[in-house]
Amino acid sequence: MPTNNDMLSGSNKLSIFHPRKYILTKVRKELQKVFDKNITKTDGMLLDYGCGDMPYRNYLSSKVEKYIGADIEGNDKADMLILPNGRTPLADNTSDYVISTSVLEHVPDVALYLNETARVLKKEGLIILTTHGIWMYHPHPTDFWRWTSMGLKKVFEDNNFEIVHFQGVGSRAAMGLLLFQDGLYFKLPVFIRNIFSMLMQPFICLFDKVSKKNTTDKDAGFYIVVAKPKKL
Ligand SMILES: C[S@@+](CC[C@H](N)C(=O)[O-])C[C@H]1O[C@@H](n2cnc3c(N)ncnc32)[C@H](O)[C@@H]1O
Repeated sequence: MPTNNDMLSGSNKLSIFHPRKYILTKVRKELQKVFDKNITKTDGMLLDYGCGDMPYRNYLSSKVEKYIGADIEGNDKADMLILPNGRTPLADNTSDYVISTSVLEHVPDVALYLNETARVLKKEGLIILTTHGIWMYHPHPTDFWRWTSMGLKKVFEDNNFEIVHFQGVGSRAAMGLLLFQDGLYFKLPVFIRNIFSMLMQPFICLFDKVSKKNTTDKDAGFYIVVAKPKKL
């Protein structure tokens, strides 16, 4: 049975009983398209900033020369520890890419995180980020923010980035149903949870499919952002 932490982000092998099976599979598919389009420098360096279990490392390792997973203290899998002040030990203008998947909502100082990203990125570098619009509370170890599309664009623009791609994944209706599922899931006896979440997935998918893309780009469960730092 998935724990709350298993439900946080994108793993590539989700069981048919996983309560996030539909949405995490879709996010992964969309994100891989964004990676394929934007990560083109095979001799490049990529920083996974808030790496967790690095669910995209296998996919991305062959696309870049160097992949560095950085995380706060406590993550033994990380290649590099983020300093207690939230910064990385990297020099200015060193990274071609930063990926940040389901991290921004956990970060206490969003301006510091984005400015640090801009600092380590090269002038032509890119950040590829996902974060949540409509999603349940999930501390890891903290959980501070949910974004509207307009608010998320604003924090990027206010912190030295120009957005080159912005996309919502998981429509309002689908996320409404997912929250309904979340509301019941943890209250159900354990032996019913798997069957309940498996039965919910086709309905979440159906609710997602009937929504228009331009609405989902404004109001979504996940946002995918690609942005470049404004550097002279
Ligand atoms: C939901 S997990 C996502 C992990 C991974 N990126 C993924 O996609 O599975 C959130 C991650 O953000 C990290 N994190 C929390 N606070 C952070 C901070 N201030 N700076 C950088 N990373 C942070 C956590 O340690 C955790 O690995």
